[in-house]
Amino acid sequence: MRRVLITGANKGIGWALAARMLETVPDAFVLLGSRDLQRGEVAIGRLIERDASWSDRLALVSLDVSDDDSVRAAAQWVVERFGSAPAPLYGIVNNAGVGLPASDLEPVLQVNTYGMRRVCEQFLPLLCPDGGRVVNVTSAAGPNYVATCSAERQGLLINDQVTWDEIEAFMQECLAVSGGPDAFAGLGLGSGSSYGISKACANAYTLSLARSYPGLVVNACTPGFIETDLTRPIADARGLSPAEMGMKAPAAGTVSPLFLLFGSPEGTGHYYGSDALRSPLDRYRSPGDPPYTGD
Ligand SMILES: NC(=O)c1ccc[n+]([C@@H]2O[C@H](COP(=O)([O-])OP(=O)(O)OC[C@H]3O[C@@H](n4cnc5c(N)ncnc54)[C@H](OP(=O)(O)O)[C@@H]3O)[C@@H](O)[C@H]2O)c1
Repeated sequence: MRRVLITGANKGIGWALAARMLETVPDAFVLLGSRDLQRGEVAIGRLIERDASWSDRLALVSLDVSDDDSVRAAAQWVVERFGSAPAPLYGIVNNAGVGLPASDLEPVLQVNTYGMRRVCEQFLPLLCPDGGRVVNVTSAAGPNYVATCSAERQGLLINDQVTWDEIEAFMQECLAVSGGPDAFAGLGLGSGSSYGISKACANAYTLSLARSYPGLVVNACTPGFIETDLTRPIADARGLSPAEMGMKAPAAGTVSPLFLLFGSPEGTGHYYGSDALRSPLDRYRSPGDPPYTGD
């Protein structure tokens, strides 16, 4: 069995990914992460309702990515349930995310960026060291944010030699900015979008993680523009339906994560578009456009 932990899988894209994985990958076992056990149980129930046989390939993991103790306890639980040798996990999908519409920066970073690192710190020792997969669900908001930064800041956020300390210093500098978009722009820190900063830093973290673990296949991707609880308020605010806004169903958001988990991506430390083709870290590439070649 190839066991995959998905964080924030009680709804939205995470849940759709669990369903698609159980449906299309016969040896996949889903560890469904949920910060709220009741919501997690409901999510598991909805999967079993779809196909009762999936119950043999599912486990609920209590996991709040913003809480050190919760992440540590979740990793311990996995060891107790599945043992530590051989490595119990084939893959980790860092999917939990918050921040739309516009939110304060600190809580968004705690989930989207620090949360991703927290999970990796605790769960990487449980991941198959030879070819284990890490999929960081980031967003096109990352490259879109980087595009608004000064050349120097861009150089940091897309540098494949970037370190966690540098990324953290960048986030701390953003947290210290007082004022609106003009204050961020004046410091070369781009638009100041909380969500964009968190996802750009999560993409940069993907670069540093891939470098630190050359035996793993570590990549990031955007799921695309998907109708979920995260994005529905954007449509509501504009008085449009999600379809009119161009949002797709959650299943469409699973294409790139599934490819990065079970397909053959070229290399590691890359960022992919929702069409499962490579995209640059500092500008938007539309699905259907030619893939980024790294030049
Ligand atoms: N939808 C899009 O168009 C879109 C586009 C680009 C990127 N993304 C990314 O895709 C990922 C999934 O988003 P979604 O659209 O599916 O949103 P969603 O439906 O709101 O789902 C987000 C999930 O994250 C969980 N979560 C939030 N804070 C958490 C925490 N502290 N610990 C653990 N889980 C937590 C939520 O749990 P609760 O139910 O407990 O809140 C929920 O399960 C996010 O990383 C998002 O940024 C989405």
